[in-house]
Amino acid sequence: MDCTYDIAASYSENFQRGPRLPSSANVPAIPANERVEFLGQHVNSRLGIAAGLLLNAKWIEGYAARGWDLLSYKTVRSAARECYPPPNWAFVNADAGEGPVFATEILSEDPETISSAVCFGMPSMPPEFWREDIARAKAAMGDGQMLIVSVVASPELNWSAAQVADDYAQCAAWATEAGADVIEANYSCPNVCSAEGQIYCDADLSGAVTQTIRTGIGDTPLLLKIGVFQNATNAENQRAFLHAVAGNANGITLVNGISRAVLHHDGRPVFGEDYVKAGVMGRIIHAPCVAAVREARAVIDSEKLSLALAAVGGVSSAADYEDFIAAGADAVLCGSSPMYLPDLACGIKAGNHC
Ligand SMILES: Cc1cc2nc3c(=O)[nH]c(=O)nc-3n(C[C@H](O)[C@H](O)[C@H](O)COP(=O)(O)O)c2cc1C
Repeated sequence: MDCTYDIAASYSENFQRGPRLPSSANVPAIPANERVEFLGQHVNSRLGIAAGLLLNAKWIEGYAARGWDLLSYKTVRSAARECYPPPNWAFVNADAGEGPVFATEILSEDPETISSAVCFGMPSMPPEFWREDIARAKAAMGDGQMLIVSVVASPELNWSAAQVADDYAQCAAWATEAGADVIEANYSCPNVCSAEGQIYCDADLSGAVTQTIRTGIGDTPLLLKIGVFQNATNAENQRAFLHAVAGNANGITLVNGISRAVLHHDGRPVFGEDYVKAGVMGRIIHAPCVAAVREARAVIDSEKLSLALAAVGGVSSAADYEDFIAAGADAVLCGSSPMYLPDLACGIKAGNHC
């Protein structure tokens, strides 16, 4: 199977040389759609790519040309941050439980069955680079396409909540100035142990940070990326979070990869002893992500909150896309599958699904 991201190479090699897309002669015709509204903007479809695979403007340009309409620029920070050492991405065999998942070299012939795990640590170029690169990305996109820029804070040990909020707001303001149509504040990362990976679990902190970001970006639409609420009080925590951010956020992107131990068959952690657990994605997380979207939609509707939903998790076919629309999503974003299915957007559009 051809992959646009080379998992045997480093992040920086992929950043410089990627994406390895099939030649432009092989770009399928992009089926025309009726425009739809998402976050107050008219877009060609409700289909896009979640924060992660699109490392820079070159990646955005390549995928925009293949019919992906909602394009998320991988999470950026207020200061440069190195990527964790490779490997950063592995294909895995996984069951639906909560135990370890196991790396596999033998890839299924059927891309719709693929699951994988990533561990990058949210690297970032310095703001001087990404502020210019976002402008290049925006210029490379077509009509009816939306640029979503994902931002995160980089808290130090003794930072107050206000400092965390200001750091998010600074990144969000820079991204807005650079041309982002939408800001996505990443409140969840399964691969970082520091505070920015778990903001969404604290409703009060989420509310305060969201208010500060809103002050920094004016009317620019704001999405918040969250993870699963995993304990018994799941529904209550989700409700508290949604209430805390409604009014300042315009929507929620759910769900980030689900954290599990990622091991070789002999028990060695794939990403090294420091990162035994990492974010799992693809087929194995689709069902829980659909359930999370359905629950969020029920709360939003019953409590009349003004929040859109961008669904993420295991979409690699038109049927997966339809699952999320039926669960109440306003948009559907693919995280890992566009790496091995770069023309999935055309396929889903051709079936008149969006
Ligand atoms: C290569 C890669 C890098 C990722 N990096 C980020 C990131 O920087 N910020 C973020 O919010 N999510 C990141 N993610 C998570 C995706 O946005 C998405 O939540 C996850 O892949 C689940 O979707 P999927 O099952 O369609 O792959 C990354 C995913 C992949 C595959």
